Amino acid sequence: MALQEQSKSAYSAPISDTAAPIIEIRNVSKIYQGGVKAVDDANITVKRGEFFALLGPSGCGKTTLLRMLAGFETPTTGEVIIDGHNMATVEPNKRPVNMVFQSYAVFPHMSVEKNVAYGLRMDGRPSAEIKQRTAEALELVKLGGFGKRMPHEMSGGQRQRVALARALVKRPSVLLLDEPLSALDAKLREAMQLELVRLQQSVGITFVIVTHDQTEALSMANRIAVMNAGTVRQIAAPAQLYENPSSRFVADFIGRINLMDAKAVRVGEHRVKVTVPGFGEVELAGDAVGDVALAVRPEKIFVAESKPTDPDVIAVRGKVGEVAYYGSYSNVYFDIGAGAPILADIGNVSRDIEEFTFKRGEDYWIYWRKGDTLVLGA
Ligand SMILES: Nc1ncnc2c1ncn2[C@@H]1O[C@H](COP(=O)(O)OP(=O)(O)OP(=O)(O)O)[C@@H](O)[C@H]1O
Ligand SMILES: [Mg+2]
Repeated sequence: MALQEQSKSAYSAPISDTAAPIIEIRNVSKIYQGGVKAVDDANITVKRGEFFALLGPSGCGKTTLLRMLAGFETPTTGEVIIDGHNMATVEPNKRPVNMVFQSYAVFPHMSVEKNVAYGLRMDGRPSAEIKQRTAEALELVKLGGFGKRMPHEMSGGQRQRVALARALVKRPSVLLLDEPLSALDAKLREAMQLELVRLQQSVGITFVIVTHDQTEALSMANRIAVMNAGTVRQIAAPAQLYENPSSRFVADFIGRINLMDAKAVRVGEHRVKVTVPGFGEVELAGDAVGDVALAVRPEKIFVAESKPTDPDVIAVRGKVGEVAYYGSYSNVYFDIGAGAPILADIGNVSRDIEEFTFKRGEDYWIYWRKGDTLVLGA
């Protein structure tokens, strides 16, 4: 129990629905000179104290949206409200936000201390205050003893934390982070993800982080907005997004999923009859009709030697194709005689090697619960 409690607190807990919004993006579009529509009628509300992630493929408009919050770009139409104030005429340096750029720009010729103090110096704060707040900010990012170092004398992760301290020292209400971890190697990146979440919880500042790494967004954020081609496709908590994607695009973008082209007709309230090449008809919960995808996550698929009799499962005959062994689990592709092969993640939950060895060409039944099956429109 204690362990569970502990691991829970390492992640971002949900923020209450009644929490006051700190950011409201209302019908915001951005058309750049030359006609590129980078953001198309976006509506996003970020709650105070939230760790909010913007996720989507390259070029979908994430940075543009962040820059409009920071004031470096002006929306073509729509409004940005921060902390109750319309930002239309508010200059970047007068906004209660601070931005950490992807390249974690620090001044190379300035010591860590001077880097962090820079913003306060520009604001003309008294030197005693600058000294104290700089020390506090460095303490916060666990760089207490590093003030006199130069950036080139530090690791990538440490420089990243200097950039964070530089933004935090100004005590913004909102911190905007554009791909803050993209330059780090996998191990450091994971460590920094945990540190960022802890830091956010300890300072209580609202974070809006841009990433195109879905596992990063899933593990860190309270809520995620998934964007595609300038449009916000879905906003939801990580588990909701993963288990209840509202479209084929979101399902495919978040995690891995088997998508089978199918046709659906409505047969009742929230009920559809789906026809799938390869295994006939099945009636399921759902609203999408016409050309749809029948979707199921690989970890929800099971394998059996004989046909399952449970009426609540969908079962289909599959022949083992590609197999990839990853230690704790294996990826096994099953050819079902139509469409793309179905991927099953088989957890290697026992030391009995034979039990989890799949050989190409072997026939099995593969099955999954109807309740784990999604019917998705485009
Ligand atoms: N200053 C600009 N002038 C014209 N077009 C731009 C400008 N900045 C960005 N764009 C275009 O707007 C679209 C969105 O760009 P943006 O930088 O917001 O994407 P992104 O989601 O941050 O992508 P990435 O993950 O690659 O950083 C792209 O098509 C891009 O080419
Ligand atoms: Mg970008």
